[in-house]
Order: sequence, then structure tokens, then C-alpha cells
Amino acid sequence: MPQWTVDDIAWDKFDPKKVDPEMVRIAKAACMVEHHSGDYGAYLCSVFPDDAEFSAAAAAWAQEEIRHGQALRRYAELADPSFNFDEAFERFVANHKIDTTAKESVRGSRCGELVARCVVEVGTSAHYSALRDSATEPVFREICQRIAGDEFRHYKLFYTYMKRYQKAERINLLARAKVAAGRLFESADDELAYAYHCGSGESLPYDRRRAIKSYAARTLPLYRYGHVELGFGMTLKAVGIKPQGLAGKVLTRLAWAAFRGYARYLERGLAHA
Ligand SMILES: [Fe+2]
Ligand SMILES: [Fe+2]
Repeated sequence: MPQWTVDDIAWDKFDPKKVDPEMVRIAKAACMVEHHSGDYGAYLCSVFPDDAEFSAAAAAWAQEEIRHGQALRRYAELADPSFNFDEAFERFVANHKIDTTAKESVRGSRCGELVARCVVEVGTSAHYSALRDSATEPVFREICQRIAGDEFRHYKLFYTYMKRYQKAERINLLARAKVAAGRLFESADDELAYAYHCGSGESLPYDRRRAIKSYAARTLPLYRYGHVELGFGMTLKAVGIKPQGLAGKVLTRLAWAAFRGYARYLERGLAHA
């Protein structure tokens, strides 16, 4: 896999005048979730203990995700020197534990696990692409550009292994669609929202429902059609539906209409909050 390090980023191009406090809050949340990938890598190795090739790929993948966390952390600390990563991360992890000794995938099969990984990777690739295209601060744009590219490669990595396990386990289209839909809706779970809450340093008690809506209201409106089209199309591909076929095109249009409708509804709520 091509590698870059945190020191490859052109930190000297940082422009404090273009810092968007909202993007900094999003960077704080993302850096915590990315840092947590070490535990997720351990979970994957535990679920695939007899597949040395995949375990090695999963361990390398986890290191790349942690590097995303390091870059975002450095950015957040540069833009907001008062950000205390260690304190926020400790608070975040205490409520988001990953079972690193699991013997079976929480998705019911190894193929299902890999479909879920594809959904997450393509979702994060779209997320960072949307942030990159909305941000004006050059260093943040560069970080998002680099990470979006990595997440896209991660999708391809998990997709390759998913195809192998799909053949071995004979997991049909419906079962894969169920896992993908489940993981898509789970994306609305509170991992990022809770990280956003922890990173904001708010002393208010955590209100899960409010936090999920509040985080989504700030990020979903940043997505353009191209981000959703690519992300949803690759999700369909992981399920086994051709994104360029008639069904794929119709489903993508419906998904975009539903996505935009929800994003607008959230925006209106934010405006009246
Ligand atoms: Fe990442
Ligand atoms: Fe990734």
C-alpha cells in the first residue's frame, strides 16, 4: 500500500484565518474514531485467526487508520491549542468498547463482516471527500484529500477479500443486502456523535438522540450528489448489484432523494435550535 506520514503534510500552509471552528470540531471527533481502529484491527484478527494473509492486511489497515487519527489530531491541536486529546479520547473509549477477543463476526458471517467493512470504508471516503470539498483551510483540505484516497483503497482491499469469502460461504445477495442496509443505518449510531460530544469539551450531560441529530445536521448537508452517487454505487457493488445497471441507477436516485430530504430536514432543525 502507498504510504504517507503525518510529516508529509504541508503544515506550513496552515492558514488560521481560514479555520472553520465547525470543521475543527468535526476533526476532533474523527481523530478519536480513527485512533480507535487499533482495537478494530485486533477484533478482525480475532475473527479471522486462521487467515494469516487477511490478518496481516487487517493489521496494516489498522495502522493506516491510526495514522489518519494522528493527522487529524495534529490538525485539531494546531487549530485549537486548548484541545486535550488524551482526556477526550479516554472519555470516548470508556463508552465505546470493541470486543477484541470475539471469535465470530457480529455480522453473522465472515463475508458479512467484510460487506460491513466495505460500507464503512466507502462511507468514510465519501465523508472526507465532502469535507475536503466544503473546507477552505488548505491543510485541512489536504488531510481530507489524503484520507479519502486511503479509505477508497481500503474499500477495494475489503471488497477483494469479501468476494473470496462470499464464494466460500455462499452468502446470497439478499443476505449481503441485509448486512449492508443494517450497517448503513448503523452509521447513524452514536460513535461519531459521541466523539463529537467528547471533543467539544461540553460539560452538558450526553443526550444520545440529540447528539446524533446534531452531528448529522452539521455534516450531511455538506454532501453533494457526486459523493452520494459514488458511495452508494460502491455499496451496491459490494452487495452484488451493478451500480451502472437500471436497478442500480434507480436505487441511487432514490437514495439521493431520501438523503437530501433528510439533510434538509436536519438543517431546518438546526436553524430553529
Ligand atoms: Fe480512516
Ligand atoms: Fe479506512
